[in-house]
Amino acid sequence: MESALTARDRVGVQDFVLLENFTSEAAFIENLRKRFKENLIYTYISSVLVSVNPYKELEIYTKQHMERYRGVNFYEVSPHIYAVSDNSYRSMRSERKDQCILISGESGAGKTEASKKILQYYAVTCPASLRVEEVRDRLLQSNPVLEAFGNAKTLRNDNSSRFGKYMDIQFDFRGAPVGGHILNYLLEKSRVVHQNHGERNFHIFYQLIDGGDEDLMRRLGLERNAQSYQYLVKGHCAKVSSINDRHDWKTVYKALTIIDFSSTDIEELLSIVASVLHLGNLQCSSDDDGNVVITGENQIRLLSRLLQVPGTVLREALSHKKIIAKGEELISPLNVEQAAYARDALAKAIYGRTFSWLVQKINKSLAHRDSTYSTRNRPNVIGLLDIYGFEVFQHNSFEQFCINYCNEKLQQLFIELTLKSEQEEYEAEGIAWEPVQYFNNKIICDLVEEKHKGIISILDEECLRPGDATDLTFLEKLEETVGKHPHFVTHKLADQKTRKTLVREEFRLLHYAGEVNYNVTGFLDKNNDLLFRNLKEAMCESGNEILQQCFERGELDDKKRPETAATQFKNSLAKLMEILMSKDPSYVRCIKPNDAKQPGRFDEVLIRHQVKYLGLMENLRVRRAGFAYRRKYEVFLQRYKSLCPETWPNWKGPPSEGVSTLVQHLGYKPEDYKLGRTKIFIRFPKTLFATEDAFELQKHTIATKIQAEWRGFHQRQKYQKIRSSAITIQSWWRGELGRRIARRRKNAALTIRRFIKGFIYRHKPRCPENEYFLDYVRYSFLMKLKRNLPKNVLDKSWPVPPPALSEASELLRDLNMQNMVQSYCKRITQEWKQQLEQKVVASEVFKDKKDNYPQSVPKLFVNTRIATSELNSKVLQLIQSEDIKYAVAVTKYDRNGYRPRARQLLVTPDSALIMEEAKLKQKIDYVDLSGISVSSLSDGLFVLHVPCEDNKKKHKVHDQAWERRHHRFHIRIRTDHFKIKEWTPVCGGSSTELQMMLPVRSE
Ligand SMILES: Nc1ncnc2c1ncn2[C@@H]1O[C@H](COP(=O)(O)OP(=O)(O)O)[C@@H](O)[C@H]1O
Ligand SMILES: [Mg+2]
Repeated sequence: MESALTARDRVGVQDFVLLENFTSEAAFIENLRKRFKENLIYTYISSVLVSVNPYKELEIYTKQHMERYRGVNFYEVSPHIYAVSDNSYRSMRSERKDQCILISGESGAGKTEASKKILQYYAVTCPASLRVEEVRDRLLQSNPVLEAFGNAKTLRNDNSSRFGKYMDIQFDFRGAPVGGHILNYLLEKSRVVHQNHGERNFHIFYQLIDGGDEDLMRRLGLERNAQSYQYLVKGHCAKVSSINDRHDWKTVYKALTIIDFSSTDIEELLSIVASVLHLGNLQCSSDDDGNVVITGENQIRLLSRLLQVPGTVLREALSHKKIIAKGEELISPLNVEQAAYARDALAKAIYGRTFSWLVQKINKSLAHRDSTYSTRNRPNVIGLLDIYGFEVFQHNSFEQFCINYCNEKLQQLFIELTLKSEQEEYEAEGIAWEPVQYFNNKIICDLVEEKHKGIISILDEECLRPGDATDLTFLEKLEETVGKHPHFVTHKLADQKTRKTLVREEFRLLHYAGEVNYNVTGFLDKNNDLLFRNLKEAMCESGNEILQQCFERGELDDKKRPETAATQFKNSLAKLMEILMSKDPSYVRCIKPNDAKQPGRFDEVLIRHQVKYLGLMENLRVRRAGFAYRRKYEVFLQRYKSLCPETWPNWKGPPSEGVSTLVQHLGYKPEDYKLGRTKIFIRFPKTLFATEDAFELQKHTIATKIQAEWRGFHQRQKYQKIRSSAITIQSWWRGELGRRIARRRKNAALTIRRFIKGFIYRHKPRCPENEYFLDYVRYSFLMKLKRNLPKNVLDKSWPVPPPALSEASELLRDLNMQNMVQSYCKRITQEWKQQLEQKVVASEVFKDKKDNYPQSVPKLFVNTRIATSELNSKVLQLIQSEDIKYAVAVTKYDRNGYRPRARQLLVTPDSALIMEEAKLKQKIDYVDLSGISVSSLSDGLFVLHVPCEDNKKKHKVHDQAWERRHHRFHIRIRTDHFKIKEWTPVCGGSSTELQMMLPVRSE
């Protein structure tokens, strides 16, 4: 709460006791409004939680939120339903005392949602075990089932609970939920047979019709159309957009299986639900005597099957009335109207009793089964009461009377308990109790419930007395008996002015929360809750096990008149009060912000009405009658000690004295506060606010100081941190470098050692000592070879292999050569091949025989030295048909004096022609050619041997000098065409003529 004070200007106060003007309703509502607009739906009145329905999902119910409230002091966190839940839980655990949380408010104000939130909180935050999980599931799953059968759409709330519910959650010694028990109050049975415009019957009917599978529908004889059933369409709104009946059906069906319903249980339960719908459609007509005749043969057959009651019994029971008078049974036929009444009574009775059976069945499933608990050592419980709030309609009937009576009782309990606890606290703290002025509503409770004189007694009496008792005679009785009561008035008793606001059939009660007019019409009927005896008898015959438990035979034999509805309710309320009185209560007061179920709308008139009806102002007044604020000394001192030099930073003595010193320093006046045994009590909020403001200021100053110091410290720390990080990194890196070098050295030494050893053992067979060395030598040879392979066939280089690889080296060398040759061969062209072939021939002829042969090798052969076009045209004419294979300019040396003469040598297929310009000087047919000779020297000379034409002349060639000069002409040339003879420089006496020619260009 203290932290809340800081925010009080922005979103009002989180606790109404801190409202300066606590008696002002306007201030109260303004505070609610401010907070509601900020989505702050919860506000305290001390420990009472006021909750305004937001009508929208707020992000305040997550697991994180639950954790935030778990185990935290009520005042330390903002108001929340979880704070109330946690506070009750912790009180139960620490004081081992039962708790209860009473949730009240108008229909649609959020009671049921609140109770679900509480249950979820316990489900999530309490210790768990396997058994606990099971119980938790059942506790949670009992809700959708009860809501299906007990909730309905009303004008106020689409999911309005039409019964009161008190649920005990039992906890074991570890604080884990281990069981539960539910008490139900006054189900609004009339809804089964009638609904006001815009309202629906109980959800289960629509869910079954929408969601039941085909098989089930067939077995139950149902159609998938709500319009077909009289009991479902009275309110003209079977379909509601906010409700998904089919989806809800699935949830309910699943929940039923979780809470131990067998398939037979479910089948029988749904048969009852279906039978109610069929009852509503029962067709009757009237015979000549005005007696009823049931005509719906099919319906009777269906009903008989579903209720497991013989058809004849059912028919008889629905059309006759049995009364026992003076020990004699009287049976009389019913008229149509009476039969309809009986039928509706049966439908209501069946549904109402089945609902109670359902609660019992759920209780069995929730029952705490741990045998370690004896009755003495029973588990602690937290009770949740989700019960109807004050209801004021245009037309208020018996139900509103009961509901409002219930609220009077709860208010009485609330006042008593609040005052009691206040008083007890004052007493415990040794502070004189100052009487509080408050409205004690006991007077109204008595008006309703007092024996013989109360309204319920009078109603019962009227129901029981012989003669023609009616609702109006009841009203008269009321006027006679309680007419003088200050909180009671009727049309007849009222003064002129009041009379205008009352009709004749109404009586008005002045409840603590306001005035309500009740119309007596139907009071007697509803109170009697009569079911004709023969209908009860028929139900007792049922084979349906649920109905057997609902209608016991003993009831028929009981001569005592059954308790009326009002008395039953009164007794159950008395029991409830006992239950609640035995527990420590917490309160949740729910408020509905608007009738349109819309988020963000704050209808002030509606809210003022509820603030009044919930008695919130009264509540605040009681709580503020003495002191607005109280807190344990330790807590107070801890928070505010910084405001006084003596208490700051630590107070050494007892906390009470510390607080005393502190408040004196703060200048509290004696009348502003009281010091109890363990707590300080502060009378007015303004005193606390002033202290809180001073605290905030101080906090701010201290915070600024601390912040500045902290920043400096932080800066230094940061620098230190960076420095030490840098040193750490540096030293690590140095170490790492050192380690790396050492590693490398070690590896190097190892390698060298292995190498030396390997070298020593290199000639030994392979062994561990030399294997590394040998492998390395091989490897390095192969790598060297790979890098230095010969690039062409002429390159004869090859690395020297180690001895172990000499054979492999040779093989590789051959292989490499083959490869090179192969790839060379693949590459060469046709022309090149020809060249090579010619070169081979040349090689064969000249190699090692002519000095300048090696120089000629790289020179390419050409087709001709003189192109045809360059030849003299006369020559061409002369040789005409001859095909010139080769033409070359040559020099002819004369035999005499070896004078050089320029000539052209033309080679044709058959002959060689020697030309001088255009003149054919000589034609040598190959057939006549006897040889060709060249010299072995580095010259271009060659000799064609032809028969000598003029032996005398030619012989001169072979003179001595020539011979001497050319004595080395011993080369023989062979071609296909020429038969080469060894040329001797002088063919003594031979018939060959020697021609000598020197080519112009060497070839
Ligand atoms: N805390 C809440 N947060 C969001 N919606 C809520 C809350 N409480 C109530 N509501 C809405 O209001 C509707 C009516 O609430 P419900 O608890 O059924 O009212 P009551 O039980 O008081 O009649 C709910 O169906 C839900 O839509
Ligand atoms: Mg409800």
